[in-house]
Amino acid sequence: MKTMTKNDIKITKTNTSKIKNTDFNNLAFGQVFSDHMLVCDYKDGKWHTREIVPYGPITLDPASKIFHYGQSIFEGMKAYKDANGEVFLFRPMENIKRLNISAKRLAIPELPEDYFFEGLKTLLHVEKDWIPTAEGSSLYIRPYIFATGAGFHASPANAYKFIIACAPSGAYFSGKVKVLIEEKYSRSANGGVGFAKAGGNYAGQFYPTQLAKDKGYHQIIWTDDTSHEYIEEAGAMNIFVRINDTLVTAPVSDRILDGVTRKSILDIAKAEGIQTEVRKISVKELIEASKNGSLKELFGAGTAAVISPIYWFWI
Ligand code: COI
Repeated sequence: MKTMTKNDIKITKTNTSKIKNTDFNNLAFGQVFSDHMLVCDYKDGKWHTREIVPYGPITLDPASKIFHYGQSIFEGMKAYKDANGEVFLFRPMENIKRLNISAKRLAIPELPEDYFFEGLKTLLHVEKDWIPTAEGSSLYIRPYIFATGAGFHASPANAYKFIIACAPSGAYFSGKVKVLIEEKYSRSANGGVGFAKAGGNYAGQFYPTQLAKDKGYHQIIWTDDTSHEYIEEAGAMNIFVRINDTLVTAPVSDRILDGVTRKSILDIAKAEGIQTEVRKISVKELIEASKNGSLKELFGAGTAAVISPIYWFWI
């Protein structure tokens, strides 16, 4: 293995690239991982050297607090290549800012923005051949931070690991998404961590989502935790409704993730002169709009999910 240093980042390249065995024309979402990852440890009150190393298993103390108290946050980003082969990212600063918003809520030390961005750019430079070019595919980038500090005391860890791993990926959903509007379980509550990209926010959805899958649905549309009358978001996406020619989405709150794709859709719609409304949407309104024909479209939006049309019918 060859080691060098760039922008204070130590780079150790693999001798055994997997790229030749990867079928870039048949990529699932997040199943194949690129050759290298960026790792950086926090201990003694500061973030240490960023290193790019071959992608592979890591060793953790069994008492690491990630295992016991779920101190873990992540982001989802994508890199593409343009027609000239130049690499570009979609609004990366939004993700970097949001990672630190999540970090603060989970009592995880924040990461300096330039530290993150420089690390990401250097990793993408090393992994540029892993960025797919087929339509609908991209290099999905997963930055995450979790507690490595050990102890059974229920308090924040004293050590963390920041990793950026990459997966050349195709679509998250194929075809229209069939959703169930949830009336019993809740994804988040006021004052909780719903707005943060905390790993536990997703784990808590698996059981109710499995119940929905058993009934033939792909995802749940979460409703507010008190009345279950207002739609909020789906597990991996924010929700948009087109009523006649107005695009409506729920306002972000303690309970709803401030999606980068959500924000971008609102910006683009405004720039295109499409009327938008950010307001509460009741299930009753949706059903009425569906019955009177004013419900024209329903779709989810997210980095992984992109824009996924939702299939609806009322029983
Ligand atoms: C993303 O869009 O990156 C997400 O966070 C969805 C993920 C849970 C697959």
